[in-house]
Amino acid sequence: MAKTSARTKTSFLCRECGGVHPKWIGRCPDCGGWDTLDAFHERAEDATVGTVAGIALQTGGGGSPNGSRAVPLVDVVQLEVPRVGSGVAELDRVLGGGFVPGSAILLGGEPGIGKSTLLLQTAAAVAGGGGRILYASSEESPQQIRLRADRLVGEDLATLRDLHLCTDTSLVRIVEEIRRVKPTLVILDSIQMVHRADVDAPPGSTTQLRRCCHDLVQAAKLSGAAIVIVGHVTKEGQLAGPKLLEHLVDAVLAFEGDRDHGHRVLRAAKNRFGSTQEIGLFEMTDGGLRQLDEGGVAIDPAAGGVSGAVLTATMAGTRCLPVEIQALTATGFLGSAKRRGTGLDSNRLAMLIAVLEKHGGQRLADQDVFAAVAGGARVVEPAADLAIALAIAGAHHGRSVSPGTVVIGEVGLTGEVRSVRHLEQRVRELARRGAVTAVVPRSQEEVVGDLGIRIEPVGTLGDAMSRLL
Ligand code: TYD
Ligand code: MG
Repeated sequence: MAKTSARTKTSFLCRECGGVHPKWIGRCPDCGGWDTLDAFHERAEDATVGTVAGIALQTGGGGSPNGSRAVPLVDVVQLEVPRVGSGVAELDRVLGGGFVPGSAILLGGEPGIGKSTLLLQTAAAVAGGGGRILYASSEESPQQIRLRADRLVGEDLATLRDLHLCTDTSLVRIVEEIRRVKPTLVILDSIQMVHRADVDAPPGSTTQLRRCCHDLVQAAKLSGAAIVIVGHVTKEGQLAGPKLLEHLVDAVLAFEGDRDHGHRVLRAAKNRFGSTQEIGLFEMTDGGLRQLDEGGVAIDPAAGGVSGAVLTATMAGTRCLPVEIQALTATGFLGSAKRRGTGLDSNRLAMLIAVLEKHGGQRLADQDVFAAVAGGARVVEPAADLAIALAIAGAHHGRSVSPGTVVIGEVGLTGEVRSVRHLEQRVRELARRGAVTAVVPRSQEEVVGDLGIRIEPVGTLGDAMSRLL
């Protein structure tokens, strides 16, 4: 390793976008944010030679000399991307078929949502399949992790000799362990607590986060291990240090759900090696996370008949999920009535309320309107429009749709019910899960001819309201 000098270099890092600038400026040229630049100091040779990971892992093969020569794109040999199965089918689905060696994955989620649980279970599953794991925890003691592992894995834990644990907050030592253990999968829980001593900033600060994440990504590339980096997000759903880490990694996964509900959804916000459409479904139980497969949720044909609650079917990647939309209206103040959506797009909600007023004959200007997706799920596709509108209208008048009815359709600004994608697949799935009636856009009536479920085609929002409520 080169002899270190005490010379330091000062740069300025944008708190919002992570951009680095040599001088302080009032406005970040990258993201346009005002007064967002913070000074940070780093040793001059770190800034030029590279990272801790680069120094610790220099194996000679890293930067091939002709790697930077431009070649015709068609001459680039397409390599089959190898994958290491995670042993957790729902996670594999979101990753696009398993971990890609050398890739870095950021797993975000609110504290307490179950990130450590998911990763410990994954670590055990990968180790059980013959993989070598380094589980680096900067938050918990070895005893705490052992206790949880005993609970999650049980007696099988004794057979997992290749599940290595390291509890440290020093990035340099974690990288050193990666080099020593040579794992196929590294888990770092969490990035907020690790630090580099030579970076003049506290753990969790944007400077530390950026440098440490960058080093870990480098370590993954050089060692060929896949690495999962845990990052806590704030209540607003922002990764601490907004957008700071997202562009450094290959995939960004979000683990979501309502802490008070058992259901958890894993989704990809970014994935260089797969689709971002797929989701993974889990349920938090006393014995850890249980995977929910497609057979999971059944529709009770007798349940329902509650005003303000309407079932719809939403597509999550290639799977169809029935969800319940709930709404409530309450007397508010004209001109300042509240419109609140939980798990819904609030702009869409405001638009649907306007359409209900204009084309549904509803007077909602002085009504507070609340709408939510039951169970802490999130539904943003337009196919849920009609269900949301009917839930609001039903809540307003104390009427309900009949039990076992599932409502699918996009509502346009003129009040027409527009067609949705994958209608046949949705209706087929609903029939399989025990729904009695499917309300579908009239324009797609023939698509869902004979699927063993009663079909109720509707042309407009007014039509749907008069027939269903
Ligand atoms: P945890 O994985 O520690 O969350 P995170 O790492 O995202 O902060 O799990 C948090 C919660 O999950 C904890 O409050 C208790 C609950 N839990 C269970 O219900 N069952 C279990 O088997 C485990 C391990 C945790
Ligand atoms: Mg944790």
